[in-house]
Amino acid sequence: MNDELERIRQRAEQDLAAACDSQALAAWYAQYLGRKGEVTSLTRRLGALPPEERPAFGQAVNALKTTLQGSFDRRQEEVRRAELTQRLEAEAVDITLPGRAPDIGTLHPVTQMIREVTDIFAHLGFQTVEGPEVEDAYYAFDALNIPKEHPARDVWDTIFIQSESREIVLRPHTSPMQIRTMEQSTPPVRVVVPGRCYRYEALDATHEWHFHQIEGLAVDERITMSDLKGVLAEFARQIFGRERKVRFRCDYFPFVEPGVDFAIDCMVCKGVGCRVCKGTGWIEILGAGMVHPNLLINVGYDPSRYTGFAFGMGVERLVMLKYGVQDIRAFYQGDVRFLAQFNRAAA
Ligand code: PHE
Repeated sequence: MNDELERIRQRAEQDLAAACDSQALAAWYAQYLGRKGEVTSLTRRLGALPPEERPAFGQAVNALKTTLQGSFDRRQEEVRRAELTQRLEAEAVDITLPGRAPDIGTLHPVTQMIREVTDIFAHLGFQTVEGPEVEDAYYAFDALNIPKEHPARDVWDTIFIQSESREIVLRPHTSPMQIRTMEQSTPPVRVVVPGRCYRYEALDATHEWHFHQIEGLAVDERITMSDLKGVLAEFARQIFGRERKVRFRCDYFPFVEPGVDFAIDCMVCKGVGCRVCKGTGWIEILGAGMVHPNLLINVGYDPSRYTGFAFGMGVERLVMLKYGVQDIRAFYQGDVRFLAQFNRAAA
């Protein structure tokens, strides 16, 4: 009997030494000490023994149980430690590796240009204000000296969104804010108005159906064309370089008189003529002029006392000129490879 117990003990100890993970340990426990394990089953044999042998056998089996349980506990602790060490090594973080830089978004180039321009004008004494994109035709046209049926309305390929009793449009330019601003204030008035505009337009490299403009307006006593010229020259030189020459030429807009187009000498070829300036040496930046007296009358200003100048520029066009962007559609395709190039922090 004792021989048999000893053989079981030896075999159990050997198996235990060979069990080197928690799974094998669990299997070992089931095989020897579990409810149906070999050692546990031995006790069932008690009944078959002559009564005088029972106590000795019972004690021997209990001793074996205790021994194996002790061995199991020690082995289990060993295996647990080994497994933990292994896991720590496998999951170790190498803190000497260089970190992965997170992708940081950028302000849209149009937003950046609006901030740059309004900042320049802020230093020249212009306040930044904004106005509605859904606009009454009165502000978009009538009050700007563009009466109904006037052919000049066609110039602003307007998207109409309601037309029965009251004409409502998506503003095709920021000029309506000239009227709204004057209506709400008394001179002196000095504002710039950045904002989104819409036109019924076939898309190509230089035409988008929506884009941004920045309007400028100054009204006060004794404002003259030379104020306009000085302000625009300073603005253009801050954006495109101190050495820029500037040019005014006659142009027509119903809401200014006289009207001009404002140009700078080409910063690429310095006025010689190249692809950017289409061989002319000059680049047109914006439309401008002296506020038409009819506008002053429309908002209740006395045109014999007040004069003013106004200008309007396309923001995407400024970005295209400054950074050599070839296609206006790139601004609204959301291609990060395009947009990320305007990341000032990375540049
Ligand atoms: N609103 C004009 C345009 O969209 C630009 C402009 C503004 C011209 C102010 C003169 C004065 O073309």
